[in-house]
Amino acid sequence: MPRRLRNTTSALRHGWHPVARSAEVRDEPVAVRLLGQPWVLARLDGTLAAFADRCPHRLAPLSAGRVDGQEIVCAYHGWRFVVSGECTAVPALGAGVPTPRRARAVAAWGVTERHGLVWIAPAEPVADLIELPEADQAGFDSVWLTPVRSSAPAALLADNFLDTAHFPFVHAATIGAGEDTVVPPYRVTPDGAGFTVRMEQEVANPEDPLVGSGEHPLIQRRWSTYGYQPPFMLRLRLEYPDAATTNTILFCLQPEDERSTRIYTRLLRDDLGGDETRIAQAARFEQAVLDEDLALQERFDLDGLPLGGDGSQPGEEVSIRADAAGVALRRALAALVDTVGGADGADRADRADTRASDAAGRPPGEHPGGRSEPEFRRPLSRDQRPG
Ligand code: FES
Ligand SMILES: [Fe+2]
Repeated sequence: MPRRLRNTTSALRHGWHPVARSAEVRDEPVAVRLLGQPWVLARLDGTLAAFADRCPHRLAPLSAGRVDGQEIVCAYHGWRFVVSGECTAVPALGAGVPTPRRARAVAAWGVTERHGLVWIAPAEPVADLIELPEADQAGFDSVWLTPVRSSAPAALLADNFLDTAHFPFVHAATIGAGEDTVVPPYRVTPDGAGFTVRMEQEVANPEDPLVGSGEHPLIQRRWSTYGYQPPFMLRLRLEYPDAATTNTILFCLQPEDERSTRIYTRLLRDDLGGDETRIAQAARFEQAVLDEDLALQERFDLDGLPLGGDGSQPGEEVSIRADAAGVALRRALAALVDTVGGADGADRADRADTRASDAAGRPPGEHPGGRSEPEFRRPLSRDQRPG
């Protein structure tokens, strides 16, 4: 049986993960889940903090507490913590008494905001955050789909996003209507720990307003450029050179729990001219496309994405040329797992570590004096608020 990348595979700790829309984190602590673990997000005096959602005292959820200036205050006994995780007050000890040295909230290796999302890296990530050049380009309207949850594992949803051969079948009622079933050869180009995929096709472009007047043909060239960065950051730029328009989709996944993935989709298009009606229409259409994908992905009897095998053994996948992007995804994720520790071995180690770390109030894999210490944390970026 090939190894599988599940939503709780411990190697995923070494990646940036979206955990909320920026707009969802306001004045109160926010509880989120990532890789089967609870985290709390809070803005402490405007600086974003992410802690394991367990107070080091009696392991109460810090998300049940409140924000008071630059501190998060535990709801149970009022211990206070600043953005580094340092405990600044223990009311039961009285004023002026030093707080216990080990009384620290466990901070993520990194927390930041980009592209309108809050991101956590529980441990040092193997890849940088994905870029979104269209966000800074003039003429692009931006709209978010409401984040949705799916029981499908994040890795399967990432694979589905990179897959084009399913369009005429899964999306016969939307984007796949009349699309050629043949997937022409395409290029996969390494890009750091991820890759880009570029393909050229001829498709119907009914959204081009000049099609109706006969000035543009219905069947037009489409250049599709996928960008992928591990573990689950994806971008698709669709260019219609005949209509001179670009339609970009940012698609990022939060592996919350074994059977729960939260999906963030943002559209950036330069063909809608700021027209609110057309922007809302575009979002509804994209939601319909996503719904078609989820309906099938949620029926898979798989708890994760198979990372190896050539189809010669039961339970392995058979890949063809059209699957080159999906094969590249599997390789990138396998490389992530191999870089930070084999999936099976790491998961075994992780289980042992869970027991040890639970006793210390740390999330699995977080070692005392290790990467969670403040000096290892990436500088906070607050320049990118919701777009
Ligand atoms: S459990 Fe948080 S202060 Fe006691
Ligand atoms: Fe799809």
